[in-house]
Amino acid sequence: MHTSTSPDHRRSLLQMLGISTPIVLAPMAVVGTPALAAAVSEAGGLGSIAVGHMDAEAARKTIRETRALTNKPFNVNVFCHVPARADARREQAWLDYLAPHFAEHGATPPAGLREIYSTFMTDDAMFRMFLEEKPPVVSLHFGLPAQEKIDALRAAGIKLLASATSLQEARAIEAAGIDAIVAQGIEAGGHRGCFDPDGDDEGLGTLALVRLLARHTSLPVIAAGGIMDGAGIAAVLALGAQAAQLGTAFIACPESSADAAYRAALTGPNRRPTTFTRAISGRTARGFANRLTALGAAADAPPAPDYPIAYDAGKALHAAAKATGSAEYAAQWAGQAAPLARSLPAAELVAQLKAELAETVGRLAALAG
Ligand SMILES: Cc1cc2nc3c(=O)[nH]c(=O)nc-3n(C[C@H](O)[C@H](O)[C@H](O)COP(=O)(O)O)c2cc1C
Repeated sequence: MHTSTSPDHRRSLLQMLGISTPIVLAPMAVVGTPALAAAVSEAGGLGSIAVGHMDAEAARKTIRETRALTNKPFNVNVFCHVPARADARREQAWLDYLAPHFAEHGATPPAGLREIYSTFMTDDAMFRMFLEEKPPVVSLHFGLPAQEKIDALRAAGIKLLASATSLQEARAIEAAGIDAIVAQGIEAGGHRGCFDPDGDDEGLGTLALVRLLARHTSLPVIAAGGIMDGAGIAAVLALGAQAAQLGTAFIACPESSADAAYRAALTGPNRRPTTFTRAISGRTARGFANRLTALGAAADAPPAPDYPIAYDAGKALHAAAKATGSAEYAAQWAGQAAPLARSLPAAELVAQLKAELAETVGRLAALAG
C-alpha cells in the first residue's frame, strides 16, 4: 500500500493539477460560471465549470470564456450516466401527478418530456471537442466512459478526475487509469455520483469514504461533501485527502448564477433542511426541501421518469411557478453543511479558506503538544 498521506504524494496532486492550494471549486451545472471558476483558479485553487447539461458547442464556448478570464488550470465536468430510458406511460403518469401544480400557477404541463441532455458515454461531439480544446482537467460524474475515450483524453495531456461514492467505484476508477478520485460523501449537495442509481448505496459519509479510499487505493483523493471552511479542509487533509472540493460553499458568491431565492435559502434567516429527492431530475440529489421534493416523497407519488427526463418536467414546473413569484419547485441543490455558507466574492472566500486552514493546522499542532 502506498503512503497516501505523505507530503510528497500530496504535493504531487497539486503539481499534477498545476495548482498551489488544495481547494477545488466543485463543478456545478447551471449554478457555476466561467467567472466563478476563473476566480478560484486565479486564487490558486482549481476552478471548475460543469458542462454536462450543455451540447458540445455550448461547452466549447464556456471553455473559451473561462480561458479568456484565466491562464491558470481549470476543470471541465461532464455526466457519465447510462443513457435515459424513455417510458411514455411513466412520463405521462408523472405529468398527470404534477398537473394540479401547473394549474395552480396558471400553466399546463408539457405535452411530452425529452431527455434534455445526453450523456458523455454517447456524446461523441463533446469528446471530439475536448480533444480539440484540450482543457487542462476533465472530471467525470456518475460513471466512466469507454476505455478508448479515457485513454485518448489522457494521451491528449488532459488530467482526469472521477467521482466515487464507494470503494468499489473507486477501484473501477483506479483500474481505468484515471488520475485522481473525487470521494463524494453522503453530505454533498447536488447529485449523488453513484454509478448505478438503482444499486445498493451504503451512503458513506465523507469521513469514512475519504479514509477508506486513502488507505485502500493508490490514487490521490479529493474529498467532497459538507466541507465549508478551513477546518473542514484540514479535517479531510488529515484523513489522507490531498485536496477538498467545495460546492455549496461557493453558491452564494456573487460570481455564481444562483437567483435571489436560492441565495436567500442559503444565507437568509428562514433556512430549510436539505433532503434527498429524485423528483426534480430523476436521480437522487441533495437540495433544500420544497413542494416538489415533498411531492416526490408523498406515499401516492408515482415513480419519477428516468434521469434526466424528469428534469424536463421539473424545469417546466419551476418556470411556471417562478413566473408567479414562487421558488417552491426549484432545484436548489445544497449540502448538509449549507448553514455555514458565506456570501463573499470567490477570491476572498478562497483567501479566507486558506487562512482558516493554516489557523486550524496551527491549533491542532498546539493540541497535539
Ligand atoms: C448546485 C450544485 C450543482 C452541482 N452540480 C454538479 C455537476 O454538474 N457535476 C458534478 O460532478 N457534481 C456536481 N455537484 C456535486 C459537487 O461536485 C460536490 O460533490 C458537492 O458540491 C460537494 O458537497 P458540498 O456541496 O457539501 O460542498 C453539484 C453540487 C451542487 C451544490
